[in-house]
Parts: sequence; structure tokens; C-alpha cells
Amino acid sequence: MTNKQAPRTAAPQRFLTGITTTGTPHLGNYVGSIRPSVAASTGLGAESFYFLADYHALIKCDEPARIQQSTLEIAASWLAAGLDPERVTFYRQSDILEIPELTWLLTCVTAKGVLNRAHAYKASVDKNTAAGNDPDADVSAGLFMYPVLMGADILMFKAHQVPVGRDQIQHIEMARDMAQRFNHLYGEHFVLPQALIEESVALLPGLDGRKMSKSYDNAIPLFTPREQLKKLIAGIVTDSRAPGEPKQAEGSALFQIYQAFASEQETAALRKSFDEGIGWGDAKQILFERIDQEVGPMRERYQTLMQDPAKIEAILLAGADKARRLATPFMRELRQAVGLRKLVAQTATPAKGKAAKTGLPVFKQYREADGKFHFKLLGAQGQMLLQSHGFESPREAAQAIASLQADGATALPPLQDRLQTLPGVTNEAITSALDLVRSAVQ
Ligand code: TRP
Repeated sequence: MTNKQAPRTAAPQRFLTGITTTGTPHLGNYVGSIRPSVAASTGLGAESFYFLADYHALIKCDEPARIQQSTLEIAASWLAAGLDPERVTFYRQSDILEIPELTWLLTCVTAKGVLNRAHAYKASVDKNTAAGNDPDADVSAGLFMYPVLMGADILMFKAHQVPVGRDQIQHIEMARDMAQRFNHLYGEHFVLPQALIEESVALLPGLDGRKMSKSYDNAIPLFTPREQLKKLIAGIVTDSRAPGEPKQAEGSALFQIYQAFASEQETAALRKSFDEGIGWGDAKQILFERIDQEVGPMRERYQTLMQDPAKIEAILLAGADKARRLATPFMRELRQAVGLRKLVAQTATPAKGKAAKTGLPVFKQYREADGKFHFKLLGAQGQMLLQSHGFESPREAAQAIASLQADGATALPPLQDRLQTLPGVTNEAITSALDLVRSAVQ
């Protein structure tokens, strides 16, 4: 079963990254993650997966309304910043039911001792120990299992590269170990992922000069209204040099934020103004205008999107559909690999006619009065799931069937023009029938 996957190594590099859905995106998230990711996703040759990590959010947040609101805001932010859901796979983690299922399979190949050493968990334990508390006080099993859930996110989609911040490198290494251990036990199923650290992405300072972070309460929300943006920028800490006095660009939070938005020439010009003693008020005005120039048009798109949650929901569901075309058959393969199997062996090539009796979906080829060659896919209960338009030759019809048998739902898009849409038949029903056909053929 695994040799079917072998050509994958020649496939383009696959990038995948998750965004935890707690909170509202700020300028630091934009510069450090949203902007570079959107830029990368428009590049050629790469296949990108972006998802809203809402299962992960539950580990940190027990306010349902906040999880929902943050999911909406983050989805709208990424779309407003130019992420094109047609070019990438953009989905919500909790729409992929295979993720928690894979989490369990990985849990069973992960050493508990390895999880004991995960940074986030260890930090909590160290804090408790220092305070003289029980080491595991206030630590949920969810926090402990965080790296395994993240491993499932990554391994499910066979990601090669995972763009993350430095604090996440250990998690990617753990995902690699899980993949290796699983492959060793059950055969080559997983791709070993690598962390991709963007060295050039600067950490944006916040209002007080420390790293911009919601937990320091020094963040500028990405899509705060224009007036509010101006006010917040006015509050950036500066030294007390008066207008006319030369100012230091290095170490100035204002200057660093400017640099993250401006071109090299613009940055050089501001540096010169600093040397020449520009007043802090004027410098703040320049910074405000520069940020607003980039963010203003996105803010408008953001506001439009925020008023249409149904549209975002539809985009996310379409993304989930795309993602599950990979996840569903892969999970079936993995279940088979570990021994979660039907008790009755599935025959390698079911004899014609017998298939219906064994409860498997079946393809039927036939010729219509117009002389053309057609096929249909009947479900286990004989219901029609797919019906083709007419092909000129029986060979063409057979080729289409063969591609569906070999590749399942992934063969559907190229055949789109050759298939009729049938009222009342869900993609889900078609996909799962094709999965069954596929596992029977293999
Ligand atoms: N843990 C990541 C963070 O906090 C979010 C995340 C969840 C993630 N699953 C992932 C990132 C998978 C990359 C790949 O930033």
C-alpha cells in the first residue's frame, strides 16, 4: 500500500503551518507570520497548508465565545492580507476529524519521557516546583499532549517544511521522532518534517520596546481603526530628547517598527531625519502614515469580511473538504497499517457482480442509445453516487474508472467535466465510496 506513495518524493515541497485561535492578530503577527506566509503562498512550485489551530486553542482558553471570535478574526485577517484559498489549503483544524484520530495513533508511539521534556510543560513544572507546589499543579493533560496534537497536524499532510518561530523547533523535532518511530514499526507512511526558521524576520517591538506580545499588553492590533492606530503609535515609548536634538535610530522601538514596513530608501531617509533631530511627534506621524499605507486597504477588506461570517465559514468548509481528500484515505491507510482492520479480509480484486454482495461500492460501464460509453458508481446499497457523461470509446471510460480506483477522490477534479452532478449526493458520500473502492483494489 505504501509504494503508491513513493512518487510523492518527487512532488513539490509542501509547507504547513498552524495559527492558534486565541486572541486578535497584532502587527507583530503580521510582520512575523502573516505577511511572509502570504508572500510564500503566492510563489510557484510550493504547496501550502494553513490552518486555524482551534483544538490547540482549547488548551489555553476555556471561553467558548473567545475561541469562536478569534477563529473568525484570524481567518478574516489572513484572507484580508491576501491569502488566496484557491491556491493554498486553508482550513480549520477541528473540521478534520482525522486529526484527533491520528493524535491517538501517535500518542501510542510517543514516549512519555519525551513529553516530560517538552518546553511548555517543563516550564509549568519548573514554575510549580519553584513555588513549592505540586509539580503538575494546574497542568492539564492537554498541555502535556500539545506536541502530539501538533505532530498529527504536520504528519497528516506529509508536510516537508514547517515555518515556525524558534520556540516551536522542539515540537517539530518531536513530530519527526513520532514519524520515525511509526515508520519503523509499521512501514514508511510518514514524511519526516523539518522546521523552517525565517532568520530574516525580525521580532517587532511593542509599545514599551519589549517584544510585541499580547501577554505584555504592548501590542498594536493589526486592524485597529485608523484613529486608534494613530493614538497607539503616539504611545510608543521614546527617550526624552527634544526636537532638534539628534536621535538614535538603533534601539528605538519606533525606528524598528518603521523598518519592518518601509523600503530601504525610506528607512535610510528616516535614519537621516533622526540624525538631524526630527521631533518624536513628527517621527510618529511618519510611522503612522507608513503603516496605514500598507494596512489601510487590508483593513477595509477585513471589515467587509467580518460582516460576512457565512462567507468565511464557506471558505473554511471548502478548505476542509480539500484537506480531507488527503486525510480520509490516509487515515484509512494508517488504520490498516496498525491493525485497526475489518475482520474479514478484503479480496484483492473483487470478482464482478460479487462486489455488490460484499457491500462494496462498484463501478458499472454501459452504452447509451446515443452510442456513447458511460459509467456510474453505485454505493454499497446500490444508490447512484457518480454518473459520467458519454465517452467516445469504452477505453476512455475505463481509463477514467481506473484513475478513480487508483487515486480515489483526488482523481475527481481532473474529471470534473466528464461527470454529472447528482442532486442529493454529498462529496462526503462520493469520497468515502471511492476510498472503499480504493482499499479493495489495493
Ligand atoms: N503551536 C503553534 C504555535 O503556537 C501552532 C500550531 C499548531 C502549529 N499546530 C501546528 C504550527 C502545526 C505549525 C504546525 O505557534
